[in-house]
Amino acid sequence: MDTNVIFYLDNAATSFPKPREVWEAMEHYFFHVGGNPGRSGHRLSHEASEILFNTREALSHLFNIDTPERIVFTKNATEAINVAFYGFLKPGDRVVTTAMEHNAVMRPLRHLEGTRGVEVKVVPADSQGVVDLEALGQALEEDTTVLVVNHASNVAGSLVDLEKVGSIAKGAGVPLLVDGAQTAGCYYVDVEAMHISLLAFTGHKGLLGPQGTGGLYVAPGLELDPLIRGGTGSNSEREEQPLFWPDVHEGGTLNVVGLAGLGAGVEFVLEQGVERIRAHEGRLFNSFWKGAQGIPGLILYGPERWEERVAVVSINLEGQDPAHVGYVLDRDFGIMVRPGLHCAPSAHKSLGTFPTGTVRVAFGLFNTEGDVERVLEALDTIARRRDHG
Ligand SMILES: Cc1ncc(COP(=O)(O)O)c(C=O)c1O
Repeated sequence: MDTNVIFYLDNAATSFPKPREVWEAMEHYFFHVGGNPGRSGHRLSHEASEILFNTREALSHLFNIDTPERIVFTKNATEAINVAFYGFLKPGDRVVTTAMEHNAVMRPLRHLEGTRGVEVKVVPADSQGVVDLEALGQALEEDTTVLVVNHASNVAGSLVDLEKVGSIAKGAGVPLLVDGAQTAGCYYVDVEAMHISLLAFTGHKGLLGPQGTGGLYVAPGLELDPLIRGGTGSNSEREEQPLFWPDVHEGGTLNVVGLAGLGAGVEFVLEQGVERIRAHEGRLFNSFWKGAQGIPGLILYGPERWEERVAVVSINLEGQDPAHVGYVLDRDFGIMVRPGLHCAPSAHKSLGTFPTGTVRVAFGLFNTEGDVERVLEALDTIARRRDHG
């Protein structure tokens, strides 16, 4: 077997490959634009501003956002979540969240618990990674400051029904912050229909952009204290941060080359259509799930029904360390996956896979049925090896 041929099944960590249009847009910026947006008034600076404008417009189109200026660019979802929490939460505030959160949510919340006395209530999930929505509704109180929900688990692939959760949050009068890291670009997200007040997304997964890009949408009416203050190219006569969006949260020069690529990635997603991307990933998931049934000792985690999940699939081989299985998949078969805890310890506690974790197989837009066959064959071989070497 030629192990120099790479089978990339780690799209939940970052998507790969990227569409040609993404690196062409980045190349175009580097070769022909190069200016600093909003800073210098010359044509290359204007062109750079136009790139940012177009990227914000494309994202607004994708998420049904009416106010593109309220999308703040960040370097990833983690920074977006930090901008939201540190700008929003005050001493004594109360946060409700779920057991399926990534450390991008849990670490800043635990820090704010210790430093600002923010109260954090965690709603449980079952052994398939499905959050108990009844318990979630009951956990919300009149004085809950914000409800924080991971749209799709990066461990179990389980989706949270955002239409339901949005209605629950709206009914309770509590703003809803959604971590859309695993769904942006591959599952329908509509901030209006789902009553989302804050949406954090990352650019390098389903949106097919480069690493170092992401953002936070904040609904009109909600104001945050900036996490970072600095030059914006606007109101330069004043030493105070401008208060208008997006400048209030975009101090310092942005990653314009990355955001050029992100804009092209989002355009690509819009051209393909989220529904078509989802249908493709659904076919791959169903083939994988079905084929996995015949492999001795293979344990599958997360919901079986495609309607309840995304194409991020956690598995284990009975009696084998996931780290070793991941290593062998790379070494002997050229297959890239991610073993371990995936930065989400409490999600693994819900699944009963803490502390060794699982092997995560994550399909993306550019995977094929051939990739599914290859990983099934490889897992079957590893499962049947006696020495596990
Ligand atoms: C559910 C979830 N939230 C947040 C993140 C953080 O994304 P980033 O590393 O791009 O900030 C990830 C990435 O793995 C994720 O899967």
